[in-house]
Amino acid sequence: MNQAVPDLGNPALYRDDCWQPHFARLRRDDPVPFCRDSPYGPYWSVTRYADIMKVELDHATYSSASELGGIQIADQPKGQELPNFIRMDPPRHTAQRKTVAPIVAPTNLANMEGLIRERTVGVLDGLPRGETFDWVDRVSTELTALMLATLFDFPQADRRKLTWWSDVAIANVAAEDAVVKSEAERMAELTKMAEVMAGLWKERAAAPPKFDLISMMAHAEATKAMPIREFIGNFGLLIVGGNDTTRNSMTGGLMALAEHPGELAKLRANPALVATLVPELIRWQTPVIHMRRTATRDAELGGKSIRKGDKVVMWYVSGNRDEEVIDDPEGFVIDRPRPRHHLSFGSGIHRCVGDRLAEQQLQILWEEVLRRDLAIEVVGEPVRAYSNFLRGIKALPVRIGG
Ligand code: HEM
Repeated sequence: MNQAVPDLGNPALYRDDCWQPHFARLRRDDPVPFCRDSPYGPYWSVTRYADIMKVELDHATYSSASELGGIQIADQPKGQELPNFIRMDPPRHTAQRKTVAPIVAPTNLANMEGLIRERTVGVLDGLPRGETFDWVDRVSTELTALMLATLFDFPQADRRKLTWWSDVAIANVAAEDAVVKSEAERMAELTKMAEVMAGLWKERAAAPPKFDLISMMAHAEATKAMPIREFIGNFGLLIVGGNDTTRNSMTGGLMALAEHPGELAKLRANPALVATLVPELIRWQTPVIHMRRTATRDAELGGKSIRKGDKVVMWYVSGNRDEEVIDDPEGFVIDRPRPRHHLSFGSGIHRCVGDRLAEQQLQILWEEVLRRDLAIEVVGEPVRAYSNFLRGIKALPVRIGG
């Protein structure tokens, strides 16, 4: 049986977008398989929705701690760990998450709506008509960079630096087209990020508290005296969290609609469907491919015996296509009755803190596209990322009809 367990961590599966049949077979025949031999060492795979929820909700058994390896199938490189609150267990996780959560609280989201709309309109109205351009660069990356700079109150003129650091933080250093080729190179770039952030941090710490992520962390007990690696780690988390995932949903959504003209026609006929389109496209894209935990004690999962110290990988891409929980999971259906029933934001104590902000940005983007009745045509193949962690689309050529 184990011989037949593929290495689901192979990044080529996601670059070539051919992961679906492997997971469908495992969900049916062997939903919690053990892969003995992989570049990441041995690991368990959790492929069904219900089992993923069991792991998510039992953080005492399934730890996220950096020192046990963290939250990706590849362990944090020994001695070079970058702890941050997604790679922590309570109580430190709880305190640090609480520090930044208010930035995405409903009242602040309501305050930001006008600004997000204004920027979205600016970006859409500035797009060329009748000529091919890259949707990822001109729309997805631009809108998320503008947002991220706002959250940090980072100089807008330098916003693409945030995009660059995000790309560096999540780069698979083994990929041919990786932006950094080694852990040392990654660290050198992230140290530059830390220097820039430390400058802003110093100014904000000396000034009265205000409502941006840097000021909030500089003034909070749980974060104001972070060691340098944790400082880099937490900035990395917030930049990647707020950047890549939303960016890839903006691109993945456009592709999904282009591939499903019937759904696009439904949306055009009834723009109010944007409210259910957005969660469906986040399920469909599943921007985070997996999260990993480490067992802190022996446990039973899907009939298998997990041992203390084992690596357990939750495959969100698979849980989101689980036919036992989601009707017609391979279908892209923009008016599902329960569109938020998906795992793209995870669950439990680490559930994405920025989920509503991401939805809001996507909602506004699609409202404004529809309002302008933009006929956006995908005119070439996407360039997908060689990554087993983030389902990234690096470029997508499109044209807007004149
Ligand atoms: C479509 C967009 C997004 C997706 C799919 C997404 C997905 C996720 C996932 C899967 C997790 C881990 C959940 C778990 O372990 O159970 C997570 C955590 C997190 N996300 Fe997001 N995210 C998105 C947007 C954002 C945005 C816009 C922000 C920032 C403003 C953000 C910040 C974070 C942070 C800080 C965490 C760590 C939470 C914790 O450990 O308590 N995310 N996200």
